[in-house]
Amino acid sequence: MNNKITIADLISAKNNNKKIAAVSCYDYTTAQIISQTNVQMILAGDSAAQLVLGFDSTLPATMDFMVTITAAVRRGAPNLFLVADMPFLSYQVTIPDAIRNAGRFITEAGVQMVKIEATAAHLDVIKAVSDAGMAVMAHIGIRPQSISKIGRFKAEATTAEMAAQLINLADQMVEAGAASVLLEGTATEVAQIITERIEVPVISCGSGPGCDGQVLITPDILGLSQGKKPKFAKSYDDLADRTLKAFTTYSDEVHKSKYPDDKHAYYMKSGEIDKLKEILNL
Ligand code: KIV
Repeated sequence: MNNKITIADLISAKNNNKKIAAVSCYDYTTAQIISQTNVQMILAGDSAAQLVLGFDSTLPATMDFMVTITAAVRRGAPNLFLVADMPFLSYQVTIPDAIRNAGRFITEAGVQMVKIEATAAHLDVIKAVSDAGMAVMAHIGIRPQSISKIGRFKAEATTAEMAAQLINLADQMVEAGAASVLLEGTATEVAQIITERIEVPVISCGSGPGCDGQVLITPDILGLSQGKKPKFAKSYDDLADRTLKAFTTYSDEVHKSKYPDDKHAYYMKSGEIDKLKEILNL
């Protein structure tokens, strides 16, 4: 029996007012743990460029890197709805490139949907990838891949004029074939209006409680990320502190020869050490 969560389950959740919990995750080990929870969706996000590789933006994420981590996440969570983040320059250059790169996530990483950061300039890309038979999530509102053009991000749709534009853009994305919309950093009232007016599942990343689902990145949920976090990022543990303590205790034990103890070492079979001593004339 195939228990994998599908797009039909997400649509049904929307129609039945059941919330969708999504997590951005970058590795097999964490995905395995997430797959044992009630989280329905994992996004293999290009924020991995920052959180895994240490870059100061998502721009350096490459197709090969994203396909590798996305396939690892799929191996860890075969049962969850998996979305791949299409990295910078994987869909902006030509439409055939966009289709080929989206297809790599389907065939090499086993995802059910690809996410594209989109403005009105990308409607043809959304349409082409969707027409090629792939489910597309249109990521609108704050788009981290636009950092070099914008310089600094601020909340989206905070004026009536900006809000009307974003609402119109969401409508256009759905018309072009988007099977889901991700709204990042958008005013709560506007995110709710969009969620109520479009028929596809709307996932909020810092866009308030009125959307069909929420996404947070794993390092924020676990309290692993250090430094300044966005207002909406909520931590459910303080693993940075606990991880620090674990590494400190480990290194102390190594330095004091307390690790490894007998419980964590292998020994020869009974009597074999004496035979070895004979062989070595010790
Ligand atoms: O890259 C990412 O993890 C994302 C989410 C924060 C929405 O795009």
